Amino acid sequence: MDSVPRDIPASGAGNPLQQLSLEQLRRRTSMKWRTYPDDVLPLWVAEMDVPLAEPVARAITDAVTLGDTGYPAGTGYAEALAEFASKRWDWDGLAVEHTAIVPDVMLGIVEMLKLVSGPNDPVIVNSPVYPPFYQFVGNMGRPIIEAPLGADGRIDFGTLEDAFGRAVAGGDRPAYLLCSPHNPTGTLHTADELAYVAALARTYGVRVVADEIHAPIVAASATFVPYLSVPGAQSGLSLMSASKAWNLAGLKAALAIAGPDAADDLAHIPEEVGHGPSHVGIIAHTAALRSGGDWLDALLAGLDGNRRLLAGLLAEHLPAMRYEPAPATYLAWLDCRSLDLCGDPATVFLERGRVALTSGAGFGTGGAGFVRMNLATSAEVITEAVRRMAAALD
Ligand SMILES: Cc1ncc(COP(=O)(O)O)c(C=O)c1O
Repeated sequence: MDSVPRDIPASGAGNPLQQLSLEQLRRRTSMKWRTYPDDVLPLWVAEMDVPLAEPVARAITDAVTLGDTGYPAGTGYAEALAEFASKRWDWDGLAVEHTAIVPDVMLGIVEMLKLVSGPNDPVIVNSPVYPPFYQFVGNMGRPIIEAPLGADGRIDFGTLEDAFGRAVAGGDRPAYLLCSPHNPTGTLHTADELAYVAALARTYGVRVVADEIHAPIVAASATFVPYLSVPGAQSGLSLMSASKAWNLAGLKAALAIAGPDAADDLAHIPEEVGHGPSHVGIIAHTAALRSGGDWLDALLAGLDGNRRLLAGLLAEHLPAMRYEPAPATYLAWLDCRSLDLCGDPATVFLERGRVALTSGAGFGTGGAGFVRMNLATSAEVITEAVRRMAAALD
């Protein structure tokens, strides 16, 4: 591991991904760092190797100093998100009165699906997709209908329409769980695509729940379009959070947002759901949205660099592995099907290369033969990971 820095690299000033040494990161006790032994480079679960943004750290410290650790109150988080949405996405339609705090995005999705669908009503997803979609939706007793993405990683509207048709035939109140931007491919859905989704959903009577947790993590050269901002999406529901973009998963707090025609549904969310988010978490998330913009911009620039770095390294050391850099998320979706590996590529890279990646197999149809790599780390770690992965195939 000599090629990975032990001290803070001088060149990394400003880039949050270059601030922490591996030694510092290994002292962390979160899932990313405690699941595998120390000789494994962990590039799997979606945690970032960054220090907290200074305004976030200050807000938490101030709350602790004041003993402001009670129950949450007010709509500050939603107001901060509305301002952020206006500034970043040019969207002024986020109505604070049509929001609810939820503990996190996945539990928010469960609550939204309870509001718009019943037990046994199908839920459509675009595979390959974030594996917990299958677990959480399955545990609710909702059958899942897959509408696989096209070979270009985009929504295939013929396939989606077919899935909507089957869903309507299979239940009274089907729902579509849209992942936007899409995990794991990093696909950024366009305004036209989202408007088409809304039109199709309206035609078939399918309710749309959009998971937009990765929305702030979009390259400066591209634009995120909130689902609720497109024409025809008035009955949609969205889940957003600062957690992914500012690495706050341990500080539970997310927001459910209703389009104007879904506000009555959201009003039926059980009161106890709002008792789940942490007050300190909400303080942290609010500070991130209000004052964490510069930090986010530095992160996004760092991620751009990491995507380019990975593409170059793979071309040099693992040319048979296919990777299309995508504008959103900090995840790289790597096609290992031409490597002719015996078994799951994630297992090969873990056992022979001591690099932990997420196996594509859990992402549903279209995921087998792929691995997902977490790029929210330093250039040195990515370089070492690719070196190990290439060596694993020798
Ligand atoms: C698409 C997507 N949704 C939800 C989550 C989990 O969010 P939360 O921890 O707020 O439930 C993740 C985490 O990586 C994700 O990628």
